[in-house]
Amino acid sequence: MTDRTHLVDAVTGHRRMRRLRKADWQRRMVQENRLTVDDLIWPIFVVPGADIMEPIAAMPGVCRMSVDKAVEAAREASDLGIPALATFPNIELSLRDETGSQILASNNLINQTTAAIKKAVPNIGIITDVALDPFTSHGHDGILRDGEIVNDETVDQLVKAAIAQADAGSDIIAPSDMMDGRIGAIRRGLDAAGHQDVGIMSYATKFASCHYGPYREAISTSGLLKGDKKTYYIDPANGTEAVRDAALDVEEGADMLMVKPGLPYLDICWRIKEAFGLPVFAYQVSGEYSQIKAAAANGWIDGERAMLETLLCFKRAGCDGILTYFAPEVARLLAKRG
Ligand code: PBG
Repeated sequence: MTDRTHLVDAVTGHRRMRRLRKADWQRRMVQENRLTVDDLIWPIFVVPGADIMEPIAAMPGVCRMSVDKAVEAAREASDLGIPALATFPNIELSLRDETGSQILASNNLINQTTAAIKKAVPNIGIITDVALDPFTSHGHDGILRDGEIVNDETVDQLVKAAIAQADAGSDIIAPSDMMDGRIGAIRRGLDAAGHQDVGIMSYATKFASCHYGPYREAISTSGLLKGDKKTYYIDPANGTEAVRDAALDVEEGADMLMVKPGLPYLDICWRIKEAFGLPVFAYQVSGEYSQIKAAAANGWIDGERAMLETLLCFKRAGCDGILTYFAPEVARLLAKRG
């Protein structure tokens, strides 16, 4: 017998971490985090018209859907056990203007979608994004005046939009615009309109990231966007500032916090979960999705494993759920595995 005691320290030598990794049954016994269908929120893109499933080139496997198809998708999601959908509109360019006024229309594409899904599939949660970018002719999240995104005027617009969304049946309002003070203003507006039970999931820490590229193609804002969003989104270099930004949203009445993008910002997920204890959701954004799909299509990584591993990592980082374009695919996979 070879004496191997020299390989390990005399005191810690009895601790062999590999004992817990030696077999599948043992690994399952000590697994700390699990991904379940309850963790998934499915973002979908809606277009005007009927019977439309329009593939998005930059997001393989994702389509823009007409409202009727979105209702079918909601039914499928509900059958799979996915708790909620997040809806994003791609409206006609002719309806987009300087102030994003179409966001206020009670029957705009997003409100039509909410009403139709709520009627047909009442047991699925609907999360609606509140930001002007799908509705503006310049692709910014706020009102653009003299080259500047004006904060307070935008907030007034967002409050009205949030009330219209709640009137249409939205369960959770998700402001993604990063204007200051909008969470408190939206909370007050919803309450005054009798929507005390409508929740707010704040895109509390939203970074000025390159990873939104495919999404902008999906809602046709890439060609429109003038400049960038650095004057209102958070600098990717800043973690402490992101925690301070989230603190304001907590004070103003956010029920849930979101971190966006996801995987490059797991430290932020952890920090804000630890700091506030509110439910925290990560948005695995379009660029993160498309990177995995592209590498998998080239045979460079195992796409299914990358999908499962990245989603599990969000759980380890303290997230209560993930907005992900993989939602139906992963839900089907989880159902198959039982
Ligand atoms: C903006 C908004 C963005 C996304 C959702 N709402 C970012 C942007 O276009 O600047 C990105 C979602 C994704 O990339 O999947 N209100």
